Amino acid sequence: MLKLAVMVSGGGTNLQAILDAIADGSITNAKVVQVISNSTKAYALERAKKAGIPTACITRKQYPEPDAFNQALLQMLLESEADLVVLAGCLVVIPQCVVDAFPNRIINIHPALIPSFCGTGCYGLKVHEMALARGVRVTGATVHFVDGGTDTGPILLQKTVEVQQGDTPEVLQRRVMEQAEWIILPQAIQMIANGRVQVQDGRVLYT
Ligand code: GRF
Repeated sequence: MLKLAVMVSGGGTNLQAILDAIADGSITNAKVVQVISNSTKAYALERAKKAGIPTACITRKQYPEPDAFNQALLQMLLESEADLVVLAGCLVVIPQCVVDAFPNRIINIHPALIPSFCGTGCYGLKVHEMALARGVRVTGATVHFVDGGTDTGPILLQKTVEVQQGDTPEVLQRRVMEQAEWIILPQAIQMIANGRVQVQDGRVLYT
Protein backbone atom coordinates (compact mmCIF):
# COMPACT_ATOMS: atom_id res chain seq x y z
CA MET A 1 0.00 0.00 0.00
CA LEU A 2 1.60 3.26 -1.15
CA LYS A 3 1.35 5.90 1.56
CA LEU A 4 0.79 9.40 0.18
CA ALA A 5 1.51 12.72 1.84
CA VAL A 6 -0.26 15.42 -0.17
CA MET A 7 0.99 19.00 0.03
CA VAL A 8 -1.52 21.75 -0.74
CA SER A 9 -1.84 25.53 -0.69
CA GLY A 10 -5.30 26.36 -2.00
CA GLY A 11 -8.70 25.02 -3.00
CA GLY A 12 -7.59 21.40 -3.08
CA THR A 13 -9.39 20.32 -6.25
CA ASN A 14 -6.41 18.17 -7.20
CA LEU A 15 -6.46 16.61 -3.71
CA GLN A 16 -10.16 15.98 -4.20
CA ALA A 17 -9.47 14.27 -7.52
CA ILE A 18 -7.06 11.92 -5.73
CA LEU A 19 -9.53 11.20 -2.91
CA ASP A 20 -12.34 10.56 -5.41
CA ALA A 21 -10.11 8.25 -7.48
CA ILE A 22 -9.22 6.21 -4.38
CA ALA A 23 -12.89 6.05 -3.43
CA ASP A 24 -14.04 4.89 -6.86
CA GLY A 25 -11.20 2.41 -7.32
CA SER A 26 -9.37 4.22 -10.14
CA ILE A 27 -6.44 4.36 -7.74
CA THR A 28 -5.58 1.07 -6.04
CA ASN A 29 -2.83 0.20 -3.57
CA ALA A 30 -2.58 3.74 -2.25
CA LYS A 31 -3.94 5.82 0.58
CA VAL A 32 -3.50 9.41 1.71
CA VAL A 33 -1.93 9.38 5.18
CA GLN A 34 -1.51 13.13 5.63
CA VAL A 35 -2.38 16.46 4.03
CA ILE A 36 0.07 19.28 4.68
CA SER A 37 -0.69 22.91 3.87
CA ASN A 38 1.37 26.06 4.04
CA SER A 39 -1.82 28.05 4.59
CA THR A 40 -4.32 27.65 7.42
CA LYS A 41 -6.96 29.09 5.10
CA ALA A 42 -6.57 26.45 2.39
CA TYR A 43 -9.95 24.88 1.62
CA ALA A 44 -7.95 21.74 0.82
CA LEU A 45 -7.67 21.26 4.60
CA GLU A 46 -11.48 21.12 4.83
CA ARG A 47 -11.55 18.48 2.10
CA ALA A 48 -9.00 16.41 4.02
CA LYS A 49 -10.88 16.74 7.30
CA LYS A 50 -14.13 15.67 5.60
CA ALA A 51 -12.28 12.58 4.38
CA GLY A 52 -10.93 11.88 7.90
CA ILE A 53 -7.34 12.45 6.87
CA PRO A 54 -4.83 13.92 9.36
CA THR A 55 -3.83 17.47 8.43
CA ALA A 56 -0.93 19.71 9.35
CA CYS A 57 -0.04 23.28 8.58
CA ILE A 58 3.51 24.57 8.28
CA THR A 59 4.44 28.07 7.21
CA ARG A 60 7.80 29.76 6.73
CA LYS A 61 6.83 32.60 9.07
CA GLN A 62 6.60 30.13 11.97
CA TYR A 63 10.38 29.69 11.79
CA PRO A 64 13.20 32.11 12.61
CA GLU A 65 15.13 31.22 9.48
CA PRO A 66 14.73 29.27 6.26
CA ASP A 67 16.69 26.21 7.31
CA ALA A 68 14.55 25.71 10.41
CA PHE A 69 11.48 25.58 8.16
CA ASN A 70 13.23 23.20 5.77
CA GLN A 71 14.16 20.81 8.56
CA ALA A 72 10.68 21.01 10.12
CA LEU A 73 9.04 20.15 6.79
CA LEU A 74 11.44 17.25 6.29
CA GLN A 75 10.73 15.96 9.81
CA MET A 76 6.96 16.22 9.21
CA LEU A 77 7.20 14.22 5.99
CA LEU A 78 9.45 11.57 7.53
CA GLU A 79 7.10 11.19 10.49
CA SER A 80 4.14 10.74 8.13
CA GLU A 81 5.95 7.64 6.82
CA ALA A 82 4.89 8.66 3.32
CA ASP A 83 6.29 6.64 0.42
CA LEU A 84 5.33 9.34 -2.09
CA VAL A 85 4.94 13.09 -1.63
CA VAL A 86 2.33 14.62 -3.96
CA LEU A 87 2.42 18.38 -4.61
CA ALA A 88 -1.21 19.15 -5.46
CA GLY A 89 -1.64 22.86 -6.01
CA CYS A 90 1.31 23.38 -3.66
CA LEU A 91 3.09 26.72 -3.85
CA VAL A 92 5.93 25.83 -1.50
CA VAL A 93 9.41 25.58 -3.03
CA ILE A 94 10.51 22.12 -1.88
CA PRO A 95 13.79 22.38 0.03
CA GLN A 96 16.77 20.41 -1.26
CA CYS A 97 16.94 18.41 2.00
CA VAL A 98 13.42 17.08 1.23
CA VAL A 99 14.28 16.33 -2.40
CA ASP A 100 17.38 14.44 -1.20
CA ALA A 101 15.35 12.44 1.34
CA PHE A 102 12.72 11.49 -1.25
CA PRO A 103 14.63 10.79 -4.49
CA ASN A 104 12.11 10.24 -7.33
CA ARG A 105 9.42 10.06 -4.65
CA ILE A 106 7.96 13.54 -5.02
CA ILE A 107 5.58 14.38 -7.88
CA ASN A 108 4.07 17.71 -8.90
CA ILE A 109 1.19 18.74 -11.15
CA HIS A 110 1.98 21.75 -13.31
CA PRO A 111 -0.82 23.43 -15.32
CA ALA A 112 1.07 23.59 -18.62
CA LEU A 113 2.96 21.31 -21.03
CA ILE A 114 6.47 21.52 -19.58
CA PRO A 115 8.88 22.93 -20.85
CA SER A 116 6.35 25.61 -21.84
CA PHE A 117 5.20 28.19 -19.32
CA CYS A 118 7.05 26.85 -16.30
CA GLY A 119 9.88 27.69 -13.97
CA THR A 120 10.29 30.27 -11.23
CA GLY A 121 7.25 32.52 -10.87
CA CYS A 122 5.08 30.47 -13.27
CA TYR A 123 2.24 29.08 -11.20
CA GLY A 124 -1.55 29.27 -10.90
CA LEU A 125 -3.30 31.81 -13.13
CA LYS A 126 -0.01 33.28 -14.35
CA VAL A 127 0.66 30.14 -16.36
CA HIS A 128 -2.59 30.56 -18.30
CA GLU A 129 -2.01 34.29 -18.80
CA MET A 130 1.33 33.40 -20.39
CA ALA A 131 -0.23 30.73 -22.62
CA LEU A 132 -2.91 33.14 -23.83
CA ALA A 133 -0.37 35.93 -24.35
CA ARG A 134 1.75 33.58 -26.48
CA GLY A 135 -1.29 32.55 -28.49
CA VAL A 136 -0.80 28.78 -28.19
CA ARG A 137 -3.60 26.65 -29.65
CA VAL A 138 -2.97 23.82 -27.26
CA THR A 139 -1.94 23.81 -23.64
CA GLY A 140 -2.43 21.21 -20.92
CA ALA A 141 -0.91 19.81 -17.75
CA THR A 142 2.16 17.85 -16.72
CA VAL A 143 2.91 15.48 -13.86
CA HIS A 144 6.64 15.31 -13.21
CA PHE A 145 9.01 14.07 -10.57
CA VAL A 146 10.51 16.83 -8.45
CA ASP A 147 14.25 17.31 -8.52
CA GLY A 148 16.33 20.22 -7.24
CA GLY A 149 15.04 22.63 -9.89
CA THR A 150 11.67 24.29 -10.54
CA ASP A 151 9.48 22.18 -12.85
CA THR A 152 12.64 20.49 -14.20
CA GLY A 153 12.27 16.87 -13.04
CA PRO A 154 11.53 13.83 -15.22
CA ILE A 155 8.13 14.02 -16.91
CA LEU A 156 5.71 11.23 -16.05
CA LEU A 157 2.43 12.18 -17.79
CA GLN A 158 1.09 15.03 -19.90
CA LYS A 159 -2.39 15.75 -21.28
CA THR A 160 -3.32 18.38 -23.84
CA VAL A 161 -6.23 20.81 -23.66
CA GLU A 162 -7.54 22.98 -26.50
CA VAL A 163 -7.35 26.77 -26.12
CA GLN A 164 -10.58 28.31 -27.39
CA GLN A 165 -11.27 31.72 -28.93
CA GLY A 166 -12.14 34.24 -26.24
CA ASP A 167 -10.70 32.21 -23.37
CA THR A 168 -9.87 34.21 -20.27
CA PRO A 169 -7.12 32.94 -17.93
CA GLU A 170 -9.80 31.84 -15.46
CA VAL A 171 -11.81 29.91 -18.07
CA LEU A 172 -8.67 28.26 -19.44
CA GLN A 173 -7.44 27.38 -15.93
CA ARG A 174 -10.72 25.65 -15.17
CA ARG A 175 -10.64 23.69 -18.45
CA VAL A 176 -7.05 22.59 -17.82
CA MET A 177 -7.98 21.45 -14.32
CA GLU A 178 -11.11 19.57 -15.44
CA GLN A 179 -9.72 18.06 -18.65
CA ALA A 180 -6.13 17.43 -17.63
CA GLU A 181 -4.98 17.93 -14.03
CA TRP A 182 -7.76 16.00 -12.33
CA ILE A 183 -7.19 13.12 -14.76
CA ILE A 184 -3.42 12.73 -14.99
CA LEU A 185 -2.58 13.27 -11.32
CA PRO A 186 -4.64 10.26 -10.19
CA GLN A 187 -3.38 8.30 -13.20
CA ALA A 188 0.21 9.03 -12.22
CA ILE A 189 -0.40 7.88 -8.65
CA GLN A 190 -2.07 4.70 -9.91
CA MET A 191 0.96 3.95 -12.09
CA ILE A 192 3.43 4.53 -9.27
CA ALA A 193 1.34 2.63 -6.71
CA ASN A 194 1.27 -0.37 -9.01
CA GLY A 195 4.93 -0.42 -9.93
CA ARG A 196 4.52 0.72 -13.53
CA VAL A 197 7.04 3.56 -13.46
CA GLN A 198 10.82 3.71 -13.32
CA VAL A 199 13.17 6.68 -13.54
CA GLN A 200 16.38 5.97 -15.40
CA ASP A 201 19.00 8.56 -16.37
CA GLY A 202 16.52 11.35 -15.74
CA ARG A 203 13.82 9.85 -17.98
CA VAL A 204 10.63 8.06 -16.98
CA LEU A 205 10.20 4.51 -18.25
CA TYR A 206 6.80 2.79 -18.22
CA THR A 207 7.30 -0.82 -17.10
C1 GRF B 1 -4.30 25.11 -9.97
O1 GRF B 1 -4.06 26.18 -10.85
C2 GRF B 1 -3.38 24.00 -10.31
O2 GRF B 1 -3.11 24.02 -11.69
C3 GRF B 1 -2.14 24.34 -9.62
O3 GRF B 1 -2.58 24.89 -8.36
C4 GRF B 1 -3.87 25.52 -8.59
C5 GRF B 1 -4.87 25.14 -7.51
O4 GRF B 1 -4.99 23.77 -7.48
N1 GRF B 1 -1.31 23.16 -9.50
P1 GRF B 1 -5.92 23.07 -6.33
O5 GRF B 1 -7.37 23.37 -6.67
O6 GRF B 1 -5.54 23.67 -5.00
O7 GRF B 1 -5.62 21.62 -6.45
